[in-house]
Amino acid sequence: MRSAAMDDFVARVREASDILSVVASYVPLKKKGRNYWGCCPFHQEKTPSFSVTPDKGFFYCFGCHAGGNVFKFLSMIENVSYFDAIKMQAEKLGIPLPEREKSDEEIARDRKLDDLRKMMGMAQSFFHNCLLKTRYGEAGLRYFAGRGIGKETIEAFGLGFAPDAFGKLRDGFLKRGVSEKLLLEGGLVTEGRGGVYDRFRNRAMIPIADERGRVVGFGGRVIDDGKPKYLNSPETAIFNKRRLLFGLDRAKSAIRSEGWALLVEGYMDAISLAAAGVGNAVASLGTAFTAEQCRLLLRYTTDICFCYDSDEAGQRATLRALSIVSATGAQARVLIVPDGKDPDEFVRKHGGEAFRELAKQAVPIGKFQIQYALKSNDIRSLDGKNRALRACLPTLRASGAVEQNAYIHYLQSNLGIDEGIIRQELAMYRGDEPAAELRPEPRRQAVRTVDDAVRRAGRVLIRKAWEDAGVAVLAVAELGNEPFPYPLHEQLLRYIAACADQEEEPSEERVAETLGEEAEAELSHALLEETPDKEGLCDDCLQVIRLAQMRAAFEEHRLRADAMEREGNSNFLQELQKSQRIKQEIDQLNNLRQRMDE
Ligand code: UTP
Ligand code: MN
Repeated sequence: MRSAAMDDFVARVREASDILSVVASYVPLKKKGRNYWGCCPFHQEKTPSFSVTPDKGFFYCFGCHAGGNVFKFLSMIENVSYFDAIKMQAEKLGIPLPEREKSDEEIARDRKLDDLRKMMGMAQSFFHNCLLKTRYGEAGLRYFAGRGIGKETIEAFGLGFAPDAFGKLRDGFLKRGVSEKLLLEGGLVTEGRGGVYDRFRNRAMIPIADERGRVVGFGGRVIDDGKPKYLNSPETAIFNKRRLLFGLDRAKSAIRSEGWALLVEGYMDAISLAAAGVGNAVASLGTAFTAEQCRLLLRYTTDICFCYDSDEAGQRATLRALSIVSATGAQARVLIVPDGKDPDEFVRKHGGEAFRELAKQAVPIGKFQIQYALKSNDIRSLDGKNRALRACLPTLRASGAVEQNAYIHYLQSNLGIDEGIIRQELAMYRGDEPAAELRPEPRRQAVRTVDDAVRRAGRVLIRKAWEDAGVAVLAVAELGNEPFPYPLHEQLLRYIAACADQEEEPSEERVAETLGEEAEAELSHALLEETPDKEGLCDDCLQVIRLAQMRAAFEEHRLRADAMEREGNSNFLQELQKSQRIKQEIDQLNNLRQRMDE
């Protein structure tokens, strides 16, 4: 969107932005001479080498050489694109984005989102007041007190209580002019035979806010042993569980100042931790950790510590989460709370300080994966040793030299396998490269090299398809007759297309279950990458992959023709002709592309 209005907008935002105050809101600065100095937020240091020159409008770090203008700073520290940084800053300064005319549909949609948000805000006050100001709330107060949650935490998280009645919220809201339709859409009421009635009854209510602190949904917990333990708001236009992290609105400043985030399974864990002074905890919303949530968190830190329940399900969820994080290159650590407790039980018993001490013992991803491989196989048997070792190879391959060495020694002593053998297995392990390269006689084979552009194109398609399954259907229709250059991409796109067929939402958990961890890691990678939204992007990507397929087919026929000729088989001419026809097609496509690029 380049236009005079846009240029004017960017210039206005730049003029109105004071780099000194922007930087100072993230980094403590001291004046020395004409410049201001502080410790660089982009690398670890103890003595300040990070400088801001306000009159020039630049920052620069003499340690890590990061530097640029105010937008560059914002984009780096918030981990957003340059343009998003401009938009963020404009919003802060109250400068409106130049708008193209909105269609009636867009206006109607905006209004609906607005109404939904307003209603959820009203509901939060309703439950909160019920808890604190009415006799209905007594049961709720008793429940919270029993969990060690006092007034302060109730206020801080806006906790509430849903009365034990079918129509309290419904009647109150209808009277205040909220339509039944909106109540249904927001999931505050449920439709029954006799009309609509309150969804949440006799439950402790935990508001779920988006990153900006706007309430978008609720988790309601029973106050006895009833089922289900937690009843959550259904997904709505403003409540998408995959894209939200409970507590992030409150935890983000602590995450930034402490430099790491704690990821827990339950709302109550995050709340208890915050109440005990551990403010950097967020919870995924009853689903597995998603790539979208990972991306959200990466805007604040690259050091994520998972603290899931220590049961088998928790451990498996941890492994899955780790494969998502490791695809991003961020650091991840795992903290296991002793005695099978969850973090909430632990802090209630031992306090926040003890939890912080415990957190120092979190182990890095690789170590956790290796320990898990050893734990989950019977390593007394030869077969078990073998399986454990195989399970560790991806981790070894992904580790830096120092860790790799340490892990190999660890495996040697725990499995009783000679170091030399482990190294040999590792050398033979190819990770995610195409299996074709492992076959014997590689020179006779049509070796498929997967170049970066093709891989990138595949990822773009996957990301687009995740938002709009129609893209997957199209890709499979256009490319599905021949193998994709990158098999994981084909599997993922076929999976998404199949979901569209059955009108199901694709899910990362299903991908992990049915296609395996490598596919899941590739999916996360795809979902995390950012590409500009260009017109015709999908078509471009389809073509890039189509070309790669054709090149592979060309190679195959050519090699086959070669071999046949050597064997004296006269049919080789047909093969050669086939390869030539494909070559012509490739050239035509290439020409077309070039002309379009000019
Ligand atoms: P847990 O069962 O581990 O709950 O579920 P918890 O956090 O320890 O809960 P308390 O301490 O008994 O109150 C973890 C998360 O899974 C989701 C919720 O998000 C919960 O925080 N969940 C669990 C549901 O959505 N529904 C359920 O019925 C149970
Ligand atoms: Mn719990």
